[in-house]
Amino acid sequence: MERRTIGATALAVGAVGLGCMPMHWGYTASQRRGEQSLRTVHAALDAGAVLLDTADMYGPFTNELLIGRVLRERRRDAFVSTKVGLLVGDRHVVANGHPAYIRRACDASLRRLQADVIDLYQLHRVDPEVPVEETWGAMADLVGAGKVRALGVCAMGPHGAGTGAPAGHVRAGASAGPAAGAHAGTIRQLERMQQVFPVSTVQAELSVWSSKALELLLPWCAARGVGFLAAMPLGNGFLTGTLTPGQGFEPDDIRARHPRFTAEMMAANQPVVAGLRRIAERHRPGTTPAQVALAWVLEQGRYVVAVPGAKRAEWAVENAAAADLRLSTRDLDEIARLPRARGSWD
Ligand SMILES: NC(=O)c1ccc[n+]([C@@H]2O[C@H](COP(=O)([O-])OP(=O)(O)OC[C@H]3O[C@@H](n4cnc5c(N)ncnc54)[C@H](OP(=O)(O)O)[C@@H]3O)[C@@H](O)[C@H]2O)c1
Repeated sequence: MERRTIGATALAVGAVGLGCMPMHWGYTASQRRGEQSLRTVHAALDAGAVLLDTADMYGPFTNELLIGRVLRERRRDAFVSTKVGLLVGDRHVVANGHPAYIRRACDASLRRLQADVIDLYQLHRVDPEVPVEETWGAMADLVGAGKVRALGVCAMGPHGAGTGAPAGHVRAGASAGPAAGAHAGTIRQLERMQQVFPVSTVQAELSVWSSKALELLLPWCAARGVGFLAAMPLGNGFLTGTLTPGQGFEPDDIRARHPRFTAEMMAANQPVVAGLRRIAERHRPGTTPAQVALAWVLEQGRYVVAVPGAKRAEWAVENAAAADLRLSTRDLDEIARLPRARGSWD
């Protein structure tokens, strides 16, 4: 698989990684696949998807424990990126950016991951109660202590989809994200963090049907040699064409409250999937809409790494193969002309 460098670091990973969130968080619990998830992680690594994206809050903790079982055997094959700064409470997900907490959480993540060092440590959300310089300074100290190689920032909107928590269950303000519109507030925070310690990556939603990051965030990253991790590159599964309008989602699934996943909006957005399918059919037999969606994400810059989430090994392998799919100018023009997705958090 094509390798891409993470920001200004010397660390290279496959252009498509593996988002591990669906194995333990955000998606219907009854469809979780237990031990099969372990096989999925191994299959992704075998296919060249080096970057494994997890977070201490996925589970909470169980996702890191799973990754730890893999790392124990294959530390050299994987680039582990985890996140800190969000706590799962009874009813809310809350931010905690206090330096003492960050230090404790890092040690706990290292134990669960069975690793000596975390390759990329990302701030999941900025704590509105703590100056971001303090939180980021504590994270920088972890690099100095050799516990972490590089630092990244998650820049999701405030609506809660980014945490996988049900909308309205993220305490107000517990977000690095600005109004999902312009990302301008995020940029201001990133600039403050850069004064303290280099930001190696920014992680935010980027997909064929959610491309706001192209307006400000990606140009900011490109101008500074900062890597971009594209979260939700498959539109929470919609862009794969495997979901059916009206199929319904269990209450613990983020899509149960997502405005684009009502039966009406899923039906209204079918032309987006149909367009991806048309393009896939022009390529090698077996090419899928999911692969076209991922190839589009990779086209947005050499510093972009896609982290599609998957529980199933066959999907992780299919997604990894998208790194070899080259879209033509005609393909890209057609994607640019796809109807704007309907149903929005904004
Ligand atoms: N920083 C943050 O706050 C934040 C927020 C959200 C996500 N993320 C990261 O970004 C990653 C990706 O986001 P995401 O997982 O929410 O959304 P996604 O990658 O857009 O979509 C994941 C969904 O697509 C399905 N899928 C994957 N590959 C498929 C294929 N080839 N064919 C059919 N279906 C396929 C998965 O199903 P199965 O699970 O059943 O395999 C899963 O339901 C996460 O795993 C996480 O690491 C970060």
